[in-house]
Formats: sequence, structure tokens, C-alpha cells
Amino acid sequence: MAYPLVFAISLFSIINIVASSLISTGQTLLLNDIPYYVPATPYSTVSFVTSLKALGTAGGLVPVTFVSVSASNASLSTLENVINGYRTDDVWNDGFLEAILVQYSGGTAPPFPSNMSFTLPGANESSVVCVLPSNGSPSAIPPGPYFASRGGSLYQPLRLYSDFQGAFTQPLIAHSNGTYAALPANIAGIQSPAVGVPSRLYYTATPAKPLAGIRLGVKDIYDVAGVKTSDGNRAWYGLFPPASVNAVAVQRLIDAGAIIVGKMKTSQFANGETATADWVDYHSPFNPRGDGYQDPSSSSSGPGAGEGSYPWLDISLGSDTGGSIRGPSQVQGVFGNRPSHGLVPLTGVMPLAPQLDTAGFLTRDPAIWSAAAKVLYADLPFYNQYPKTLYTVSFPTTADDEADSILLNFLSKLETFLGTTSTPLNVSTLWNTTHPAGVSPNINTFLNLTYPVLISKEQTMLVRDPFYAAYGAIHDGRRPFVDPAPLIRWAFGDSLPNSTLTEAINNKTLFQNWWSSQVQSTDPATCSSSLVLYSASSGGVAPFYRNQYLGPPQVPSGFGTSRISPFAEIPDFVLPIGQAAYNSTVTLHAEFLPVTVDVMAAKGCDGLIFNLVRDLQAAGIVNETLAGQTVAGGEILLRL
Ligand SMILES: *[C@@H]1O[C@H](CO)[C@@H](O)[C@H](O)[C@H]1NC(C)=O
Ligand SMILES: *[C@@H]1O[C@H](CO)[C@@H](O)[C@H](O)[C@H]1NC(C)=O
Ligand SMILES: *[C@@H]1O[C@H](CO)[C@@H](O)[C@H](O)[C@H]1NC(C)=O
Ligand SMILES: *[C@@H]1O[C@H](CO)[C@@H](O)[C@H](O)[C@H]1NC(C)=O
Ligand SMILES: *[C@@H]1O[C@H](CO)[C@@H](O)[C@H](O)[C@H]1NC(C)=O
Ligand SMILES: *[C@@H]1O[C@H](CO)[C@@H](O)[C@H](O)[C@H]1NC(C)=O
Ligand SMILES: *[C@@H]1O[C@H](CO)[C@@H](O)[C@H](O)[C@H]1NC(C)=O
Ligand SMILES: *[C@@H]1O[C@H](CO)[C@@H](O)[C@H](O)[C@H]1NC(C)=O
Ligand SMILES: *[C@@H]1O[C@H](CO)[C@@H](O)[C@H](O)[C@H]1NC(C)=O
Ligand SMILES: *[C@@H]1O[C@H](CO)[C@@H](O)[C@H](O)[C@H]1NC(C)=O
Ligand SMILES: *[C@@H]1O[C@H](CO)[C@@H](O)[C@H](O)[C@H]1NC(C)=O
Repeated sequence: MAYPLVFAISLFSIINIVASSLISTGQTLLLNDIPYYVPATPYSTVSFVTSLKALGTAGGLVPVTFVSVSASNASLSTLENVINGYRTDDVWNDGFLEAILVQYSGGTAPPFPSNMSFTLPGANESSVVCVLPSNGSPSAIPPGPYFASRGGSLYQPLRLYSDFQGAFTQPLIAHSNGTYAALPANIAGIQSPAVGVPSRLYYTATPAKPLAGIRLGVKDIYDVAGVKTSDGNRAWYGLFPPASVNAVAVQRLIDAGAIIVGKMKTSQFANGETATADWVDYHSPFNPRGDGYQDPSSSSSGPGAGEGSYPWLDISLGSDTGGSIRGPSQVQGVFGNRPSHGLVPLTGVMPLAPQLDTAGFLTRDPAIWSAAAKVLYADLPFYNQYPKTLYTVSFPTTADDEADSILLNFLSKLETFLGTTSTPLNVSTLWNTTHPAGVSPNINTFLNLTYPVLISKEQTMLVRDPFYAAYGAIHDGRRPFVDPAPLIRWAFGDSLPNSTLTEAINNKTLFQNWWSSQVQSTDPATCSSSLVLYSASSGGVAPFYRNQYLGPPQVPSGFGTSRISPFAEIPDFVLPIGQAAYNSTVTLHAEFLPVTVDVMAAKGCDGLIFNLVRDLQAAGIVNETLAGQTVAGGEILLRL
């Protein structure tokens, strides 16, 4: 292929001087039917023995497996053991056994010939074993799958997975200079965009890189260097240039070794949108659970749907202003944390309401969750002693259905674990009797408009006005398109005097102080004087289909349990604890939806909840959840 092109260009240049720029963006390959993207730039270059040059290639490349051994114990059985360990990796496959490149450390070369042929047990064909000269350190080239050119260039491939649930806005690759770009690859024969992930074999977690090789999705309101941010709005994406630096939160995770695999969908400007009609600019991602046509919640919908759907995606960075991490975690049955407010600067993140905005995670694995939190929230204290006061809010008292009995069962195990008995807490009643002077004794009146005032007054000022001005300046005064949900909220803000913002901030602060004096104060031994439990998703009793015609979006007025943590600035973590059946009107079959519980503690006590989850997992009371049709796994229906 290359030959005629080169010929044509040189012929041209004889006739006329033509400036031409030919840039490789890498290539895609299928190895044993598994799709890979091979970047344009090699990871490293090595000198091969001649025997490798006889191997067949595709696109000029040979699949090889790179192994590092210590010369002292290098033997064929060492190779066999090492390579058998590679079989758990989802990127490596047997096709990479075309050749085994052995790099050794420790002085003398391993005691096998440098071009021997070797058949591993379980492999169908023999591999050529090439011993490379010692590179001093066995970690000079990370072990794992590579594609090698005959010239000795070694490329680290990305395995391509289909984003068939529509969770991503833009799959990404990292350049060696630290910037990112759209992944220039797709999977042959597959409709959905591809996301590329590197082999886990390349990475080992260390104290300096605790997240080495962890595959991270990033909600598309965070800046990633080299990439445009969409905020869920196409005009915004088109208007502004790529970010030049990473958001602070993103940078912390990268520094700790996390691998960004892509930007993930957000409802527009992180406002609440319901599938499907509210999502005009971008289509809402698909919730994998149950019949596959349940609303994925918002606004961290991409992270929620991605974590629920893809076993290859470890963790996602979302944001929560009024429930944007908690909602998607609840309905997709994954762990999710709204952290204490202010734990990480939100530089490089689109604001909704700075007094309420927080950065947190969605994931299936509590251990990865906690490790990532230690990185994102530097200096967070971790407590191991738990409070004896346990409150429940809006909890069932009798097991009227499957979800209720899961919640009550969890509560009883938690009580035993903590050595305490829970007390129901009625927030309205407590407020009515203990509220600060001079404000409404009815909490629903007092805080009814606090949330919508904060988000609308702040976002119009911080996001909308500069957006409209910049768009109008290059489009002859035109307005950009904005989805109905943010428009209705912004119009609500415009309808109120500016003084309501001060009022809202004041009311929020009064509530925050009241909560910390009445319900959750700081405790020297247990960090938080109490834990508060509530359930927002109650599994089988509340399916919420995405194929219903709803009225126009509404201003999010009203006070409810989910508003406590934003106003009180406290951590609010979602734990999946089971699943309950419902009869689907789509499949006409019984399906399962997740049952989750929310745990809240005093401000700054996030580490207490992380350790509680760790201990509850060790006690079998909370488990890792799986990607798939249910929280216990299973093939997603209608998988493409
Ligand atoms: C080979 O030796 C190294 C250290 O010398 C050790 O870390 C490694 O586990 C050994 N490999 C096998 C397969 O025994
Ligand atoms: C290994 O190399 C030797 C000498 O270079 C050659 O004679 C032999 O055929 C090679 N064996 C294989 C399996 O390539
Ligand atoms: C070996 O070949 C058999 C028969 O073609 C096939 O079923 C099996 O998957 C192959 N094994 C490997 C490891 O490629
Ligand atoms: C980083 O590298 C990419 C790919 O070579 C290039 O397109 C981009 O301009 C570079 N960015 C910076 C900031 O150097
Ligand atoms: C709190 O008490 C009020 C008044 O008795 C009642 O109307 C309300 O339903 C209770 N709320 C909860 C969450 O139990
Ligand atoms: C709160 O208490 C007052 C009396 O102090 C009473 O008049 C009012 O109805 C109560 N409101 C609610 C919502 O409980
Ligand atoms: C809350 O505000 C909405 C919108 O203004 C209003 O319709 C509703 O009656 C208010 N509710 C309370 C309890 O004040
Ligand atoms: C704040 O509280 C006052 C006093 O209860 C109330 O009149 C007002 O509507 C509240 N405003 C907002 C924006 O929360
Ligand atoms: C309200 O605040 C906005 C943003 O700061 C400002 O542009 C506007 O002029 C203010 N309106 C009034 C009536 O003060
Ligand atoms: C589903 O429908 C069947 C048959 O009507 C009924 O027996 C069962 O209780 C229903 N299950 C749920 C979870 O609603
Ligand atoms: C967690 O897993 C353990 C071991 O498989 C099991 O016994 C336990 O019931 C599970 N707990 C939950 C809450 O699913």
C-alpha cells in the first residue's frame, strides 16, 4: 500500500513543489478476533534476533509477549508460570504468544537458546523465544502484550471495547507529552464507538502510584488537557478550544497512575434531566440493569451507566451538586460518594453552584474507591472507631416487599456490627422543635427554594452569561441551543431578585449549623457523633422507564432527605446492598433492580465511611457489585 503512495508523491514533487503532511494516527488490528488499537508512536525499541524476522505480520506488526525474568531463576517453567498468570488480563490473549521476548536482569543470560521454539501448555502453536540483552532493570519495559515491528519497535496496544450503552462522549488516548486526544479508532463491524484500555500487566501499584493502571472515566464537565469539554451541550463543545490543562481533580488522579480512557456523558450543564425527552443535545446513556430501559438518573449518568455496564471500567469521576453522583449510583447499583464539601478544588470543572458542587466517584469496587479517595482528597483523616448513634430517615419499618426486607436485613446486620440499635429520625419534626430563631418552623417552607435559587442564580452568572456572550460574538448575536431543563432553571433564576441568592446562602448555612449541632457533630474518637442511614432507591417498588412521555421539566423546589448532605456539606455515600424484582412492562418478564442505602456522617468524616464500608465488606455485609443486567452480573439485554 505504502509503495504507490510514496511513488505518487515523489512524482508530484518533480512536477510541482507541493507541501504535504502525512501523519499516522495508528492502526487497528484483530488478533484472535479481538480488536486492538496500536498507537502511532512506539513505546520502546529493542534489537531482535533474526528468527523473529521470519514471523508473519499484519500491518507490519507481530504480536509478542514481553516477559522480564531474573537470570537466577530463569527457566522454561518460570516462563510458563509467568505467562499463565497473564491469562487473567483482559487485554493479553494467546495470540501474543507468537513470540516471547525475554528480558533478564542479573548479569548472565538465561540458560536457553535465544531463538528456541517453545510450546506452552494450553497454547496451540509454539512461540519463538527471543532473549533480549539485559536492560539493567527488569522493569525497563513493562511486561505484557505488545505489537512489534520487524525493525524492533514495540507498541503497547489498547484493547477496544464497544461503548454499546452510550456512556461516553469521547473515548481518549494519552499522548506521551501528557495531553490527551480523541481515540482515532473503532471496531470493525460494530455500530458503537470504541473505548481503548491498556493491559493491566504493564502496571504495579506503588505508594507513589497507588492507582497505577486503574481505568478511569471522567464526566465531561472536567477539563482534560488537549480535549474539548462539552458540558453536555454541542454548541459549548463547538465554541470553546480544547482545555490546555487538566482540572485539579483529574491531575491528582493522573499523577497517582490512573489511566483516563474517556470523557463520559453528563446531562446538560450538570442539571437534572430525565431520559429520554430532556436529553436533546446528547442521547441519555442506557442503564444496564433490569430491562435496560430504566432511567440512568442524572447528571453523572455516563459514569453510572458505564460502571453498571462495563467490567473493564474500574472507576469514574463524577460530580454531585444535588444528587448527581448519588442518583446514578442508586439506580445503577454501584458505590458512589458525594464527599464533604470543599475536599478538592474544583478548578477546571464547570460550576452549577459552588456552595454545593463536589467531586466524587462511582465504582463497583470499594477497595478501588477508597484508594482513589485517598488520592483525590489529600489529607483526609481515616477513622476506625465507629459511632454508637445510628439514625434512620425514611426507612421502612415492616418488610412489605423484597426491597424493604433487604433494607431491614442490612440495618439489622449493621446494628449488630456497630453494637447499637438504630433510632428513626424525623427531620421535619426535629426542625419544628429545635429550629433557629426567626425562620419558618416548617422545614419544607424554609428550604423549599434554597436549592433552585442557588443553582440558577449561580449558573446563569458563572456559565450561561459568558457562554451567550461568547457565542453571540461570533454568530452575529445569535443564541446557542440549550436543553429545556437548564433553560427552565435559568429562567427561574432570572425571575427572582438578586437578593434571593444571599437569602439562599444564608438559609443553607443556618441549616448546616443546625444539622451539625443537632444531628451530626464532630467527635474526637469517631469523627462523627452519629451515622445517618436513608434509602432513596427501593429496588423493585420503583421502576422508572425511559420510554414514558413526561411533562416539561420543573424547577427543583422542595426539601427532601437527599438535600440534607448538599446543605449540611456532609459526606453521603451510596452502598448497593441487593436487588429486588419487578415485572417489566418492556420485557413482560420479572427483572431485577438494585437496592441501595445512603450513609451520612459529619462534615470531614468521609474516611470514617470508607473504612466502615471496608469493614462491612470484610464481614460479608456489603459486597463488590458486578457489571451487567443485575448487580450480581449477567449479560445485559439487547447487547449490541
Ligand atoms: C524469580 O526470581 C524473582 C526474584 O529473584 C522473583 O521475584 C520471582 O518471583 C521469581 N519468579 C518465579 C517464577 O519464580
Ligand atoms: C536458531 O539459530 C540457529 C543459528 O543462528 C539456526 O541454525 C537455527 O535454525 C535457529 N532455530 C530456529 C528455531 O529458528
Ligand atoms: C486451540 O485450538 C482449539 C481447536 O482449534 C481451540 O478450540 C482452542 O481455543 C485453541 N486454544 C487456544 C489457547 O488458542
Ligand atoms: C502533544 O503531542 C501531540 C501528539 O504528538 C501533539 O498533537 C500535541 O500538539 C502536543 N501537545 C503539546 C502541548 O505539546
Ligand atoms: C415526620 O413527621 C411528620 C409529622 O408527624 C409526618 O407527616 C412525616 O411523614 C414524618 N416524616 C417522615 C420521613 O417520617
Ligand atoms: C411546627 O410547630 C408549630 C408550633 O411551634 C406548629 O404551629 C406547626 O404547625 C408545626 N409545623 C409543622 C410543619 O410541623
Ligand atoms: C415550593 O415552591 C414551589 C414553587 O414556587 C411552590 O409551588 C410550592 O408550593 C412551594 N412549597 C412550599 C412547601 O412552600
Ligand atoms: C429563606 O428563609 C426565609 C425565612 O424562613 C424564607 O422566607 C425564604 O423564602 C428562604 N429563601 C430561600 C431562597 O431559601
Ligand atoms: C444581578 O446580578 C447579576 C450578576 O451579577 C447582574 O448582572 C445584574 O445586574 C444584577 N441585577 C440587579 C437588578 O442588580
Ligand atoms: C409479577 O406478576 C406476577 C403475576 O401477576 C405476580 O404474581 C408477582 O407478584 C409480580 N411481581 C412483582 C415483583 O410485582
Ligand atoms: C456477600 O458475599 C458473601 C459471600 O459470597 C455472601 O455470603 C453474602 O450474602 C453477600 N452479601 C450481600 C449483601 O450480598
